[in-house]
Amino acid sequence: SMQDELSRLSQTVAESANKKAFETEMKSFLSLFTRYLAEKASSKELVWKHIKSPSKDQIVPYHQITTETDPESLRKLAVLKVNGGLGTSMGMTGTKSALEVKNNMTFLDLTVKQIEHLNTTHNLDVPLILMTSFNTHEDTLRIIKKYADHELRITTFNQSRYPRIVRESMLPCPKTADDDKSAWYPPGHGDLYNALFQSGVLDQLLADGKEYLFVSNSDNLGAVVNQRILQHMIDSQAEFLMEVTDKTKADVKGGTLIDYDGSIRLLEIAQVPPEHTEDFKSVRKFKIFNTNNLWINLRALKRVMDNGGMELEIIINPKITEKGEHVIQLETAAGAAIKHFRNAHGINVPRSRFLPVKSCSDLLLIKSDIYSIENGQLVISPERMFSTTPVIKLGDHFKKIQQFQKRFKKIPTIIELDHLTVTGDVYFGRNVTLRGTVIVVANEGQRIDIPDGCVLENRLLSGNLNM
Ligand code: UTP
Repeated sequence: SMQDELSRLSQTVAESANKKAFETEMKSFLSLFTRYLAEKASSKELVWKHIKSPSKDQIVPYHQITTETDPESLRKLAVLKVNGGLGTSMGMTGTKSALEVKNNMTFLDLTVKQIEHLNTTHNLDVPLILMTSFNTHEDTLRIIKKYADHELRITTFNQSRYPRIVRESMLPCPKTADDDKSAWYPPGHGDLYNALFQSGVLDQLLADGKEYLFVSNSDNLGAVVNQRILQHMIDSQAEFLMEVTDKTKADVKGGTLIDYDGSIRLLEIAQVPPEHTEDFKSVRKFKIFNTNNLWINLRALKRVMDNGGMELEIIINPKITEKGEHVIQLETAAGAAIKHFRNAHGINVPRSRFLPVKSCSDLLLIKSDIYSIENGQLVISPERMFSTTPVIKLGDHFKKIQQFQKRFKKIPTIIELDHLTVTGDVYFGRNVTLRGTVIVVANEGQRIDIPDGCVLENRLLSGNLNM
């Protein structure tokens, strides 16, 4: 059985402090796995008709929250970035937050700049905490090394490493505790709470007088500390706040807040029965989605963890390994913790607080002249005449980061662009300017090279091109 196999795995670890840690980790994994089996057997699915849109007081509009802030509250704040993911959807094999996004700075560099700015402005020492995984730990340490002589306190801790499960046998993939990386997985950002608690970082924060934790994805460049939200958290005595934002037609995947039998819950697409996925994606019934910017009361978290921890909804993530083996990963989402806290609610924030890089199209926009950087924050250039940013759709040839880098000799000037669609085998030269609506389509077997210095304004390019 799974349990026997896990004991066998732990026999492959030499007697040491590591062994204890390994066994604790396998115990947490086993309880997740057991819960998964039990839920599967009882087909404990959500009852769709019990799901309601959240009520007015469950989601507070940002413009309604207090503007009177007390900078002293910031002394009790710590900032945490979940940084265990690899950006596989952009074809990355390394740590996503180590990607250079702007002015030769990585996501992590920008985050450091943001917090240093906050600290110098208000004379604070808000610490930065990074949750890494076995996939990202080394890259992260390498990047933060250069900040060793800075004032900013940076703490890292590793999230759990769980064994992937072979779909056929329902047994663990790894044969030994030090088996290849590909046999293991980091179990989602919902692992944050367990990892904070187990690593001792939670106790350390409390001992340092920290009471509030601002959590966000390391690839969300819009997730800057916001004093009004912190103050609102204190005033409303909310132990947990989730920043949500209005959904557009393009945001079909993010989780949403729901009212389930009177209590607030996170609903992820993975939990939605197939016959209701269209419902879930629609903008009408579920108007907002989770940005994963979360504000957590640390004392409340300590209480919840001391009382046996959390049972977060399990997200089943099927994968196929490089060797072609079908495996499953049991994961959880950090936002699902909302149901464990008192006075927890959502705040509907402006879209500017959610600027993630999920695709190379996002990356093009962020690298472009539409944005500049001020104190580690992205700001829309004053030269942009419209308040909206251009819509960019790069095709499959640009899906992987290596391809993206190869296909743009230099990032084009797009300050006057409204819409860009690129399909097929297309390469951009240096100093290209794109304005208005530009569509470039290279058909199957063709290649289009946009020459150096080219200006395209309201143009459709397709077919065989001799420019
Ligand atoms: P996502 O998994 O939603 O997005 O992680 P991603 O990083 O773009 O992943 P790919 O492209 O699907 O591989 C959102 C945030 O959660 C962190 C990631 O580092 C990212 O900041 N994360 C994710 C963890 O810290 N641990 C995990 O196990 C998974």
